[in-house]
Amino acid sequence: MGYKAVVFRNGGKADFVAFDRNSVSSFFHKDDVRALYEESLRASRMEWSDNFSKQCRFYSLYQLARHAVRDHPELDAAECGCWKGHSTHFVSTLLRRGGFKGTFHVFDSFEGGLSALSAHDKNERYELTPAQVKAQKELFASTEEEVRRVLQPFPFAKLYKGWIPERFAEVADRKFSFVHIDVDLYEPIRDSLAFFFPRLAEGGALVLDDYGFAEFPGAKKAADEYLADKKVRFFFESPTGGAFLIK
Ligand SMILES: C[S@@+](CC[C@H](N)C(=O)[O-])C[C@H]1O[C@@H](n2cnc3c(N)ncnc32)[C@H](O)[C@@H]1O
Repeated sequence: MGYKAVVFRNGGKADFVAFDRNSVSSFFHKDDVRALYEESLRASRMEWSDNFSKQCRFYSLYQLARHAVRDHPELDAAECGCWKGHSTHFVSTLLRRGGFKGTFHVFDSFEGGLSALSAHDKNERYELTPAQVKAQKELFASTEEEVRRVLQPFPFAKLYKGWIPERFAEVADRKFSFVHIDVDLYEPIRDSLAFFFPRLAEGGALVLDDYGFAEFPGAKKAADEYLADKKVRFFFESPTGGAFLIK
C-alpha cells in the first residue's frame, strides 16, 4: 500500500496534478491507523479482504473505539459478527491501549456464515441466484478456534458462539460504551440493536458496519426502523459505507 500524486506534464511543465484516491484518503496519512489495520489483517489472515471501503470503515472504527474507551474505560464493549477476527483484533488493540477495564463480548454463530435471508434482505438491485446466496453466506464462515487464536493476546475478549440473539441474555446486566454490529442481515441487526441500544451508555458509540450497502438492504431498513423513535445525539452515515451513532 502507498499513495502517490500523478503529475500530468505538458511540454515539460507540470500543468495539473491529479491525486489518486489513496492520497485523498486520510487513512494513508495516519500511520497509526494504517499500521494497526494491517497488523490486524495479518493477525486474522485476512489480507485478501483489504479494500477501500473497508479502510474507510476501519478509519471510523478507530476513532469511535478510542472515543468510547477514553470516556468510559470501566464499561463493557461488544461486537456482533466477528468472522475471522479482523475488526475484533483491531478494536481489542485500541481498547487495551486506552486502558480498558471491562469485558469485550463477541457474538458470532460460527456456523458456516450468514444466517438465512428474510424478505427484508431481498436485493432489488442485484438479484442473486440461489447459488450466489449460498456463496455469499459461506464466504463469511469461520470457526471459534481460529478467532480464539487471533484474540489470544486479549484476555478481556470473550467469545459467545450461537445464533443472535440466543446468548445475549448472558450479558443482560452489563452496560456498554462501544458496540460494533456487523452481521449484514435484517433480523440479526434488528435483534442486536434492540438488545444493545438500551444498554449503551450516554455518549457511547454504536457502529453499523453494513448500513447503506446495496448488497445488504436489510441492514439500513433494520436500523432506520429501530432508531426512528430513539433519542440519538449524533447519527453519521458515511459516504463510503457504514454508519455510526453517538447516544
Ligand atoms: C461480515 S462478517 C463480520 C466481519 C468482521 N466484523 C470484520 O470486520 O472482520 C459477518 C459475521 O456475522 C456472523 N453472523 C451473521 N448472521 C449471524 C447471526 N444471525 N447470528 C450470529 N452471527 C451471525 C457471521 O458468522 C460472520 O462471521
